[in-house]
Amino acid sequence: MQDQINTIRDDVLAQVEGVSDLKSLDDIRVAALGKKGQITGLMKQLGGLDPDQRREVGQELNRVKDAVQAAIDARKSDLERAELNRRLEVERVDVSLPPRPEMQGSVHPVSQVMDEIVAIFCEMGFSVAEGPDIEGDWLNFGALNIPDEHPARQEHDTFYLPAQSDDEARPVLRTHTSPVQVRHMLSSQPPIRIIAPGRTYRSDSDMTHTPMFHQVEGLVIDETTHMGHLKGCLRDFVEAFFQVDNVPMRFRPSYFPFTAPSMEIDIGCSFRDGELKIGEGDDWLEILGSGMVHPNVLRNGGIDPDKYQGFAFGMGIDRVAMLKYGIPDLRSFFDSDLRWLRHYGFRALDVPTLYGGLAR
Ligand code: DAH
Repeated sequence: MQDQINTIRDDVLAQVEGVSDLKSLDDIRVAALGKKGQITGLMKQLGGLDPDQRREVGQELNRVKDAVQAAIDARKSDLERAELNRRLEVERVDVSLPPRPEMQGSVHPVSQVMDEIVAIFCEMGFSVAEGPDIEGDWLNFGALNIPDEHPARQEHDTFYLPAQSDDEARPVLRTHTSPVQVRHMLSSQPPIRIIAPGRTYRSDSDMTHTPMFHQVEGLVIDETTHMGHLKGCLRDFVEAFFQVDNVPMRFRPSYFPFTAPSMEIDIGCSFRDGELKIGEGDDWLEILGSGMVHPNVLRNGGIDPDKYQGFAFGMGIDRVAMLKYGIPDLRSFFDSDLRWLRHYGFRALDVPTLYGGLAR
């Protein structure tokens, strides 16, 4: 029996040595150590031996079994490592290669302009804040000093959602990004310097309105912020965004419930031969609303209006995208027309920065 054991051991170890894939290795394991395997078969014969022999051969068989198992385990991890190396070699990606020319995706003008706006304000020290698209009635209106009977509520053409219970106001699809102001005040302490870009909704549709559109809100609060800061900040923004120096700007008195005083900001432009030029000529384009934050809004945000003050602004992102990139119809933004996207889209790897360039 000893000879038989040696032959089987040498044979199995030789097979393990020579095998080159995991499946065959497992077949060898089953043929040697499985229920009907050769070594298992010898184990079963132990019962027929006399006691002394049984102990001796039994011990020998156990040694062989352990040696075979160890050889299989070692071979298995060798083969697994080799397989991993082979895959790493085959699936290697050269990240320094230029983008594939057949790659067709592009960045939507709204995303591009949002990235440009974020790049400009972050350079000035602002950070980005966010709020939900479905907003509470209080945050969208009440906290912003727009009481129930206020005409602004009708002007906003609000999409209401069903109320959760009888004594709660209906939630709304936020009609502007201004509620993010209050959310941010409630969750942090001055000094505050944030912008909040995002989706907004009003029931309106024509060449320059879509039911879903985009705004960016700005909010700056500390102890000494005044209207001069508002003007300087927005002038810097406009010049960086439209990439023209000394843009004529007009700060027109206006009314918003959440700011006092309030103003709308127009920039100088010309329409000649159907072409719009920003920064020259004697026409004006309104681009944003702004003002000093109303004391009631500060109070609703948990901020003491006797100690703190600041300014806010709100701007339509789609509208400035149309102006900057000469896109005539707002509705086309959301048609998902591939020809339009190829024409107006931006290269995915050109991330806007003030140093690298906002758009190329
Ligand atoms: N929320 C206003 C709107 O949607 C825009 C706006 C105006 C925002 C003045 C402001 C602001 O923060 O100060 O029409």
